[in-house]
Amino acid sequence: MLVELRLLEIPQALKSLAGVKMELEDCAYPCLSKVVCTTDPLEAFDSADCIVLVGGFPRKKGMARNDLIHANTKIFTEMGAAIDEVASPNVKVLVVANPANTNCLVTLNEATSIPTKNFCALSFLDHQRAKAQIAKRLGVSTARVRNVTIWGNHSETQYPDPLTDGYCIRDDGREVSLASLLKDDVEWVTNDFISTVQNRGKSVIEVRGNSSALSAAMASADCLKTWLVTGTNDGETVSMAIYNDKGYYGIKKGIVFSFPCVCRDGNWYVKEGLDLSDFAREKLAVTEEELVEERLAAEELIVKSRLRSLSTTSLTSSESDVEMTNSTHSGNYLKSRI
Ligand code: LMR
Repeated sequence: MLVELRLLEIPQALKSLAGVKMELEDCAYPCLSKVVCTTDPLEAFDSADCIVLVGGFPRKKGMARNDLIHANTKIFTEMGAAIDEVASPNVKVLVVANPANTNCLVTLNEATSIPTKNFCALSFLDHQRAKAQIAKRLGVSTARVRNVTIWGNHSETQYPDPLTDGYCIRDDGREVSLASLLKDDVEWVTNDFISTVQNRGKSVIEVRGNSSALSAAMASADCLKTWLVTGTNDGETVSMAIYNDKGYYGIKKGIVFSFPCVCRDGNWYVKEGLDLSDFAREKLAVTEEELVEERLAAEELIVKSRLRSLSTTSLTSSESDVEMTNSTHSGNYLKSRI
């Protein structure tokens, strides 16, 4: 299969994007047929089968969380509208840019012609981080550590959870639960481990002076490969932040939340029926609350901009009534899905 890459950038970055294009050509990838650089989302997404949204508005010093959500809501509303207009109806979208879960929610809300199951936000990076920490602690290869789960937001409230469903493959091929292997290490697994994974992105920035690059790229590639190409191995789950339309594990519907997922034939399925401890439930509630707040902040901006555009667009009175009536239901007004 041949791949055509469309690289979308803001005008100020077009020159350095040309350098990226040169490097991509110099890699002589056998399946890369063409590289297009553009500043136009409609050109970038035209008939696209797979879209990875990596560029957002970065958090600046002193910026409140709501300001960050607002800045990104503007960008991802535009991305979603362009996807809706020109992408393949079967397009699969991975959102990497932070705040990834809510950016994904805003995008899928706008791209109403694309099924919500075609979207996910990257919690695979946190999944790999958690796996690596457990492997290091147990002194085993990461390949042996399975079913560590990231629940919730790609933020410091996420709950990295090795205990609910995690296991390790021993030398003799037997599966041993991580709960039993870590039973004498409760202090670490319920404190240091959690905060190390939750804060890993921040720590990388502190040490490297820049946001994660290699690991984020690797996790994005692994996520797409598992989701769309290979599927998960038997008995294995990966963490994916998906649109919660079913209220999985009692989590509020209408937010993008990371769950343990099985991937098969290009689809993800949340692994249901896991028994969550009270400790886990408490952690899930914290990250759920943060995502609900993020959604409210995004909604606030979308409602305002829709109202602004309503006041400048001439609608028939009945259209206008519907829009304005909906807009008064704070928290429920968006195009359709939030
Ligand atoms: C990461 O987890 O490495 C990034 O999301 C951190 C960031 O803020 O860029």
